[in-house]
Amino acid sequence: MAVNVPKFKLNDGKEIPAVGLGEALVDPRFPNLSKPEEVTKAVEHAIKEGYRHIDCAWGYGNEKDVGEGIRLSGVPRSEIFITSKLWGTWHSRVEECLDQTLSNLGTDYLDLYLIHWPVPLNPKGNHPVFPLLPDGKRDVDHAWKLADTWKQMEAVLKKGKVRSIGVSNFSQTKLEEILPTAEIIPVVNQLELHIYNPQHKLIEFMKSKNITPQAYSPLGSTNSPLLTDPDVVSIAEQHKLQPADVLLGYLLAKGIVVLPKSVTPSRITANLTGAIRALETLTKVDVERLDGLAAAGKQKRFITPPWPVDLGFEHWPKLL
Ligand code: A2P
Repeated sequence: MAVNVPKFKLNDGKEIPAVGLGEALVDPRFPNLSKPEEVTKAVEHAIKEGYRHIDCAWGYGNEKDVGEGIRLSGVPRSEIFITSKLWGTWHSRVEECLDQTLSNLGTDYLDLYLIHWPVPLNPKGNHPVFPLLPDGKRDVDHAWKLADTWKQMEAVLKKGKVRSIGVSNFSQTKLEEILPTAEIIPVVNQLELHIYNPQHKLIEFMKSKNITPQAYSPLGSTNSPLLTDPDVVSIAEQHKLQPADVLLGYLLAKGIVVLPKSVTPSRITANLTGAIRALETLTKVDVERLDGLAAAGKQKRFITPPWPVDLGFEHWPKLL
C-alpha cells in the first residue's frame, strides 16, 4: 500500500521517515514479549502496509527475524530505513558488534546506528548480554569513556558501514560527555517520550544542538494508561480519531520521530495511517493541552532498567 509518510531532515542532511515500526526484546525468559515468528510477520506486514522505517537492536536478539521480514516484504532494501543499536558489552568493539548486526539483518549497511544506552558493560563478564556482579547488580565497565565509544561510532560511519550515527537514552549530562570531543554531532537521541514523560528540558537542549528526538514507547508501553487518559479521549472524540492516533500525532507535531511497537497487524496499519491523520488534524491548542499533562501531576516513566549508574535523567527512580 502506498502511504505518503512524512520525513524529517537530520543534521547531516539525510532524511528519516517520521513513523517507524519499533521492535522489542525477544527473550525466552519473558514469554509475553514478542516471539521471533511474530516479529518477522509484523515487519513484513508493516512494510507491505507502507512503513519504510524499522527500528531494532542487537540487544533485542531479533535482528535475524527483522531481516527475514524485510526480505519477505519484497520491497527493495534501498527503500527501507533500518536502524539498529550497539549493545553495552560492545562499547569497546563497535565494529565487531555492527558486523554481527549487518550479518543478522542480511544487509551491508545501516541507515542509522545508535549507542543503545550510555552504559558500557563488562565485555569479559559472566554473561554476553547482561553480565552481573556477585551481588546481582549489572556489571558496568566504569573505566570506559563514552567519548571513546563515540570515536568508534564515527569510524564505522567514515568506513561507510552506516549512513548516520546517533545515541539513545542519553540525558543532557551524558550528551555532554561526548559532545566536546565529537567530530560528528549525533543525528538523533532516542528516548522514552510520550504525554506522561515529555522531557521538555532535554528536548529544548537537543533542539539547540540540532539533535532530532525519536520516541520509543510513544503509546506508553504495554497496557498503557495513556490510551484511556480523559484528555486524550476527549481530543480523539473531538477530531474523530483513535486515542493511539492522538498520542502519535502529538509527538509528530512536535518534530519527534515515533516508533510505536505492535505485533497485531490491524494496529500496525492503524498506527501509521492514524498518526499521519492526527498530524494533519491536531491543533496548536490540542498540543499545548497535552504538553501540560505531565506537569499537572501525570509524570510517569514506564521503562527504567536497573542500571547501577546515575544516567542524569529527571524522574528516574533513585539508585539503591
Ligand atoms: P500489541 O503488540 O499486542 O499490538 P509502545 O510502542 O508504547 O511500547 O506500546 C506497545 C504496546 O502497545 C504493545 O503492547 C502493543 O500491543 C500495544 N499497541 C500498539 N498499538 C496499539 C493501538 N493502536 N492500540 C492499542 N494498543 C496498541
